[in-house]
Amino acid sequence: MKIMRHTSILILLVLSICSTEAADPMADFCNKDNNISKSSQISANIDALLAQLVSNTASTGFFTSSYGKGQAQVYGLAQCRGDVVGSKDCSSCIQDAAKQIRQRCPNQADATIWYDFCFLRYSNKSFIGEVDTSYGIIFYNTGNVTDPKKFKKELGALVDDIKAQALEPKNVGFGKGETKLSPLVTLYAFVQCTRDLSKLDCSQCLAIAVENYETICGDRKGCRVLYGSCYVRYELYPIFYPVGSNSSMNVVADDIVMILV
Ligand SMILES: *[C@@H]1O[C@H](CO)[C@@H](O)[C@H](O)[C@H]1NC(C)=O
Ligand SMILES: *[C@@H]1O[C@H](CO)[C@@H](O)[C@H](O)[C@H]1NC(C)=O
Ligand SMILES: *[C@@H]1O[C@H](CO)[C@@H](O)[C@H](O)[C@H]1NC(C)=O
Ligand SMILES: *[C@@H]1O[C@H](CO)[C@@H](O)[C@H](O)[C@H]1NC(C)=O
Repeated sequence: MKIMRHTSILILLVLSICSTEAADPMADFCNKDNNISKSSQISANIDALLAQLVSNTASTGFFTSSYGKGQAQVYGLAQCRGDVVGSKDCSSCIQDAAKQIRQRCPNQADATIWYDFCFLRYSNKSFIGEVDTSYGIIFYNTGNVTDPKKFKKELGALVDDIKAQALEPKNVGFGKGETKLSPLVTLYAFVQCTRDLSKLDCSQCLAIAVENYETICGDRKGCRVLYGSCYVRYELYPIFYPVGSNSSMNVVADDIVMILV
């Protein structure tokens, strides 16, 4: 009994230490063409902007804002993935993102951070409502599917379906779906655009992302394409919230990363 009690105290301690640390993102991008100093007005404005994003994003899962004047004005966008909106994981993801982006890009006025559950970007250039595929990242599983021809056909049909879903106004840029490939194997996929995009821009971003996974991921069992304006993913294991919460948090050890520019 005594040992049990000690164990639970230890577990509580470990949990509380962990919870003060912000979780690692899937990826980040610090634009080295936009260097600033930590003591600049822009830097102070970024901190104020991030505070606005942190307090306003969780309620609807999406928020854009700007802060400051003239040369020092900064713009920001934060968004949770469509199926994560309304959950506690949406707000904690945005909090982590705001903390980590400043740690990872302390000297840049233009930075982007991607988590599986959320996305955050700020810049001293106004970017809201503009499609951005200037910088992208691909993660793919090193394993290949056993029947590429059938897989590609099924994946193509599924992605066409969820792209159409994402473009329906009520779905605000998010589409997800699954297809049984065999009694034991199910293919899961989702697409997500940032909510500031027009239907046409969302469709354009998704088309570019899909083109990239087709050429780069080929017959891979899983693939993720991350852009500033959209995110596309497919896997042979569950990835929708909340089931995918742990399996998808971090990059699997044998995943391969590539930068698209
Ligand atoms: C910005 O700073 C980084 C180091 O943090 C440096 O490598 C890079 O060359 C700088 N960029 C410009 C445009 O000066
Ligand atoms: C953003 O900041 C960078 C670095 O200070 C500067 O070179 C660039 O002109 C700024 N862009 C705008 C649109 O203000
Ligand atoms: C999967 O296919 C690629 C491309 O054909 C190949 O380079 C890679 O080695 C394959 N992976 C495995 C685990 O067989
Ligand atoms: C998530 O983690 C729990 C406990 O670590 C495990 O039982 C469960 O199978 C995991 N779920 C997925 C989808 O990996």
